[in-house]
Amino acid sequence: MKKLLSWSDHADLLEKALSGDGAFLVVLDRNGKANAMTISWGELGTVWSRPVFTVLVRQSRHTYSCLQSSESFTVSVPGPNTLKEELLFCGTKSGRDIDKVAACGLTLAASEKVDTPIIEKCVLHYECRILLRKQLEEVDFSSSEILQKYYKEKDHHMLVIGEILLSYAEDTIQFRTRQRASPQEASS
Ligand SMILES: Cc1cc2nc3c(=O)[nH]c(=O)nc-3n(C[C@H](O)[C@H](O)[C@H](O)COP(=O)(O)O)c2cc1C
Repeated sequence: MKKLLSWSDHADLLEKALSGDGAFLVVLDRNGKANAMTISWGELGTVWSRPVFTVLVRQSRHTYSCLQSSESFTVSVPGPNTLKEELLFCGTKSGRDIDKVAACGLTLAASEKVDTPIIEKCVLHYECRILLRKQLEEVDFSSSEILQKYYKEKDHHMLVIGEILLSYAEDTIQFRTRQRASPQEASS
């Protein structure tokens, strides 16, 4: 069973995954085959009055070329401390060389709003329609520190902004209702 979410619900879970073992970014290649890549960089927010998920993908990734032709992507977030080996595999092997989904024994499930599937056994999913692709270049950066630290190899990221058409969570995760803290709690 799944529960439909507002785009910002469970952002804490997403944040934990991105700052830990990562989440799965799934994109279809030109032949319609799904490739999963681990990501730890991404952002949720509102742009053009729409909820969006932005991913950053380096030029060297197979996923990069998939994103050039695909109209959508999905992000599937594993629960804390789950699918760790699969995340490592999808974050170190390339879809150019191997069918990572099959090799990891991951199961895909059809998305509701986009052609790109989601990954089962994850607890949180975002179905996104691509709105913008922007290749970053050296000249775009105002911080030389960031350039030095992350782009010595000139393998710049492409920013891909996807409109979140649907986000949902498996009902196995604890739902925290959004309640205002009582005045007593708020001051403690
Ligand atoms: C925890 C983790 C997080 C990662 N995050 C990103 C990311 O946000 N962007 C990126 O371009 N690569 C990231 N990578 C590297 C890719 O996942 C890795 O290069 C992968 O093998 C690319 O797969 P592909 O060639 O099938 O696209 C990450 C790897 C790991 C292990």
